[in-house]
Amino acid sequence: MTDFKNSVFQGRSVLAEKDFTAAELSYLIDFGLHLKALKKAGVPHHYLEGKNIALLFEKTSTRTRSAFTTAAIDLGAHPEFLGANDIQLGKKESVEDTAKVLGSMFDGIEFRGFSQRAVEGLAQYSGVPVWNGLTDEWHPTQMLADFMTVKENFGHIKGLTLTFMGDGRNNMANSLLVTGAILGVNIHIVAPKELHPTQEVQDIANGFAADSGAKLLITDDLDEGLKGSNVVYTDVWVSMGESNWEERVKLLTPYQVNMAAMKKTGTPDDQLIFMHCLPAFHDTTTEYGKEIEEKYGITEMEVTDEVFRSKYARQFEEAENRMHSIKAMMAATLGNLFIPRV
Ligand code: CP
Ligand code: NVA
Repeated sequence: MTDFKNSVFQGRSVLAEKDFTAAELSYLIDFGLHLKALKKAGVPHHYLEGKNIALLFEKTSTRTRSAFTTAAIDLGAHPEFLGANDIQLGKKESVEDTAKVLGSMFDGIEFRGFSQRAVEGLAQYSGVPVWNGLTDEWHPTQMLADFMTVKENFGHIKGLTLTFMGDGRNNMANSLLVTGAILGVNIHIVAPKELHPTQEVQDIANGFAADSGAKLLITDDLDEGLKGSNVVYTDVWVSMGESNWEERVKLLTPYQVNMAAMKKTGTPDDQLIFMHCLPAFHDTTTEYGKEIEEKYGITEMEVTDEVFRSKYARQFEEAENRMHSIKAMMAATLGNLFIPRV
């Protein structure tokens, strides 16, 4: 009889990138590319037939919620959305008790929220795979889609250089720094000194970089940080749960991704792309965008509309890849697939 525990992924949670090897992350990225091809060819892949998936969202989401929902359905599973105002978690019931209840009914749990400890607690007490759909610290499912997009564009991942411009202390900067370090991608974090990654995150990344050969650079210097880059990446200046717009607009305006920043890379056009996890403030068509224009007189924040709509832009391919890569992750950790080693 097949020993399903032979799979390196079966039953595992995905809480943070640092828990996975380069080979494991690369497997999930390649499996995502394979599932994308199956989807485009109309080939069914019901690896999770009959499974129930809980989708817990303390924070709002467009992509992550949609990706988990459609991925679960394509895999033959049933997704159930449990929003912050729908369940007792945190207000009336502890993480431990909630985890025990959900684990007795659901086969897998996605959690998006504030605290990394909460997602770890769900994994500890539920007895089923738990997938981190973003916390204040890490955004691992975004990494699978991002490096899948990088692979689609360049044909390989190792040895490329990715520059993240903006809030170097947020979940995206943390995840890119550590994941790049694991995969052998040179990561440059270009941010004002006040927003450089914490020493703890830098230490984790440096540990992996020593093995992979990735060169990591944390700087406030635009010229140094952008030079030789293949991927220019940015994220919102104020993350969910924060509200310090004035401070961030002041600190981060010089770190906006505009055409001048793209040019500073010095990279030929066919070796250069722009990425953004989204949502993005590239114009004033949103409530926040309008408010920021009224208060601070700027119509674009972390990226200009010109770059967002340019030939370099890959953010919508990246968004679509959330679905394929989340599907790969759920199938690998819950689908009893034959993956004895990677
Ligand atoms: N990139 C991302 O996580 O998007 P959502 O916040 O819309 O899920
Ligand atoms: N740093 C952003 C990422 C959104 C996908 C946030 O946490 O709001």
